[in-house]
This record gives sequence, structure tokens and C-alpha cells, in this order.
Amino acid sequence: MKPIVELDIDNLAYNGKSVAYLDGKVTFVNGGLPGEKVQARIVKSKRSYNQAKLIRVLTRSDERIDPVCRHYELCGGCTWQDLTHDRQLFYKRNQVIASLQHIGGLDDVVVDEIVPSPDQFFYRNKMEFSFHVCPPDISTRGFVLGLHERGRFDRIFDVVECHLESEQSNRLVNFIREKVVEYSIPVYDLVAHHGFLRFVIIREGKNSGQSMLTLVSGEGEFVGKDKLVTALKEEFPQLTTIIWVVNATITNIAKGEIREILHGPGHIEEDILGLKFRITPGSFFQTNSRQTENLYRAALDLAEIGEDDTVLDLYCGAGTIGICAASRARAVVGIDIEEEAIESARVNARINNLENCHFYAGPARKVMMLDELQGMNFNPVIIDPPRVGMHPKAMKRLLEIDPRRLIYISCNPATFARDAKELVEAGYTLHKVTPFDMFPHTMHIELVSRFEKNG
Ligand SMILES: C[S@@+](CC[C@H](N)C(=O)[O-])C[C@H]1O[C@@H](n2cnc3c(N)ncnc32)[C@H](O)[C@@H]1O
Repeated sequence: MKPIVELDIDNLAYNGKSVAYLDGKVTFVNGGLPGEKVQARIVKSKRSYNQAKLIRVLTRSDERIDPVCRHYELCGGCTWQDLTHDRQLFYKRNQVIASLQHIGGLDDVVVDEIVPSPDQFFYRNKMEFSFHVCPPDISTRGFVLGLHERGRFDRIFDVVECHLESEQSNRLVNFIREKVVEYSIPVYDLVAHHGFLRFVIIREGKNSGQSMLTLVSGEGEFVGKDKLVTALKEEFPQLTTIIWVVNATITNIAKGEIREILHGPGHIEEDILGLKFRITPGSFFQTNSRQTENLYRAALDLAEIGEDDTVLDLYCGAGTIGICAASRARAVVGIDIEEEAIESARVNARINNLENCHFYAGPARKVMMLDELQGMNFNPVIIDPPRVGMHPKAMKRLLEIDPRRLIYISCNPATFARDAKELVEAGYTLHKVTPFDMFPHTMHIELVSRFEKNG
């Protein structure tokens, strides 16, 4: 039998767990807030840490609040919804400071107050809901449509009301669930890998008001397709496009080949800092549109772009930051590994009538070596890598380019601190770090920073 212990929760860790010490050994708990005494079961004991499962909270912290969401206990989404918003912001900023100190060895960096999201709820512009078949004791209709249960890749629960995207998004999910029953559309079994309807993806231009529904299925005939589309158009006239995508593989990802545009143009547009960006079913786009505007504004202010500057937008996605920078610069070069993102970036430059933007698809470390990019004197360089941070070869190439100003945007304080250490060792000064709360009620943190090299 695994031991049951009492623990005093000390802090919140970046992995979303809380932290306590058991006989001096760090112990990660899947619940509990700082200041609380909890009862927990030790489920894993390694040499340097334990993992424990919360049984119950024995003494409640003043920072604890009742979660707004009715699905909170089950859902893997907003795990910090039981913590006051002010304290969420406090712990996020502290995690940035702690990463810089412990991983980067950087003790004296100015870390600004965290910039709160303009919206605490309904801030997301994209949600993915999964179908899964289920036994009658879970639902008599024989399937569920919703989100993953916390920590379970193989269990989905019916979402009735989620506070992340919009009222429309909730209504759409509930409506589709009813219509799938009414039109007898087969549903996918995500464990046995057979069946038809797999995912519902709802993307909304929070600033443009446009919205896109993508239905992802496995291979096969789309029974009831026309009736479903007619019903959706009638009930949701504000849906500007509906797309059918097929993922014929067994990987449970909400992506695939576009099979048919069922309504509208097959994409939506979103407005960011007065510019237009096209979003297609597979394209990456920052998830919190309104906070993205704050993040980009801060990045562009720090970049201090002059009219003779050539900006390198590394890990550019659909070109959004570079395109926002383009009117201030002589030229912008964007690099991203995803072909589809680069195609979107080119379209985005065109629809904004920008002729000074050039985009390249491929891994950053390789594209930076292209002959045509040599001697371009990039400055500033804006870097926005995925969670793993910069690839060592991309970092090496960046240091060879030797820009005076570097704006580093990160969604992972740990890999940021690792890369910051390397940049500082290479002669850069880290002038400023501003954390941004892009995802309230979750552990995720975004930040913008500026590095500078003199001489
Ligand atoms: C955090 S997103 C940034 C997107 C963009 N800057 C924005 O604000 O929308 C990271 C991007 O890095 C790209 N990426 C991942 N690995 C890469 C690599 N090795 N080389 C180039 N791009 C990569 C992904 O395709 C993704 O678009």
C-alpha cells in the first residue's frame, strides 16, 4: 500500500503541480494551494523527488475560491480556477523570476509586473472538442462530445458550458451533439480507432466577429452531412464558414486534409493591430487575440525598429509579428518550419498590401544558412520558438548573425532561462522581461524580453 502523508503546500510548480517537502525531499502534488495542509498519497518516489496524489485539503488557504466552471473537477483545462486571479498572476511572475535564477543563473534581471489578460474568461479564439463512443451508463446516446478528463487521453466528458471561448461555442457544441443523434451520424472510438466524426474545432475572430467550424472525421461517407450543414446555417447565421477535414490516421489530432468546404470561403480573418490575418483550419494563430495585441505591441516597442532595419522574424508562424513590424522596417524576413504557416504568411502580407515581407519554410537552423540570406545584416531579430526553445544549431547560427537587438518571446520560462544564459554568456545583456498572462486559470506563462549587445 502506498503511504498516506500530511503535507504543507509551499509553492506552485511550473508543471501545474503544487510543491511540498517531505523529510526535505521535494514532493509534487496534483492539488492543494500554498499555505494549505493536505492529505496525500505518495504514488512515486524517486531519488530527488516524490509525486503525490491529493486525497483532501485539511486546512483551506485564503487564496482558494470556488471555481466558476461546473466541469472543474473533471476537466483537464483550467486547473488554477480555484485560485484567486491576483494570486495566479503573482505565482506566474514568481516562476519567471525563479527560472531565471535557478536555470539561467541570472539574479539581477528586471522582471516587470505580469500583464493581465484583457479577458479572464472567454478569451480563447480556438477550441477543439473530441467525440468518443461510450457505454450507456455514461450516456444513453452512446457517445460524448467535449473535452478530455484531467490526465486522461482516453476519456472525454460532455461539455455543456465552458468559459474559455464564447457562449456561441457552447451552443454550437450542444447543438451538434443533438444533431448527430437526430441524423444518426456515426461517431469515432478514439481508443479502438473506428467510426466517423472525430473532432469539432471552433475558431472565432474575436476582433473581426467571423467564425469557423471545422468538422474532422475519419475516412468514410458523411451520413447526414447536408442536413447538418443546413441546420447549422439556420441556427448560427453568424458562422461564416464550415469545413470538413479528414484525418484518416490513428493519431488523435484535430488535423487532416480538407475534404470539402461546406459553407463560406474556407477561412476566417482576424484583425490584429489594425491588420488582417487569414486563419485556415490548420494554421497556427495566437489563441488569445486581445492579449496578443498587447504582447506584439510590447515586442515592437522593445524592438525599436528603424526605417533602414531588416527584421528577422524567427519561428514566424503565419507571419503575424513580422507583418505588424513591416510598416516600420525596410524589410522583414520570416522563417517557420510549417509549409502551411508560410503559405498563410505570404497571403497575410499580400492582403495587407505589404511588399517588403519575405517568408521561408524550413527548420530555422537550416534556412538561416541559405546563401540568399547571408550578409543581410538582420537587426532586430525577433524570436518566438516553440516550448522547447531554440535548437542549439539555430542558436549557434543566431550568434553568428550577431544582431545588436534581440526580442525573445517565450511560452516556457524554463527553456527561455536556458537560452537567456547562453545569450548572456555570448555577450548580450538581458535588459527586461515582461510576463504576459495569455491563458488565465492555467499554469501557462508567456513573456517578452529584450537582449542587447554593445559594440
Ligand atoms: C510559438 S509559435 C510562434 C508563432 C508566431 N510567432 C506567432 O506569434 O503567431 C512557434 C512556431 O515555431 C515553429 N517551429 C517549430 N519548430 C521550428 C523549427 N525548428 N524551425 C522553424 N520554425 C519552427 C512552429 O511551426 C510555430 O509556428
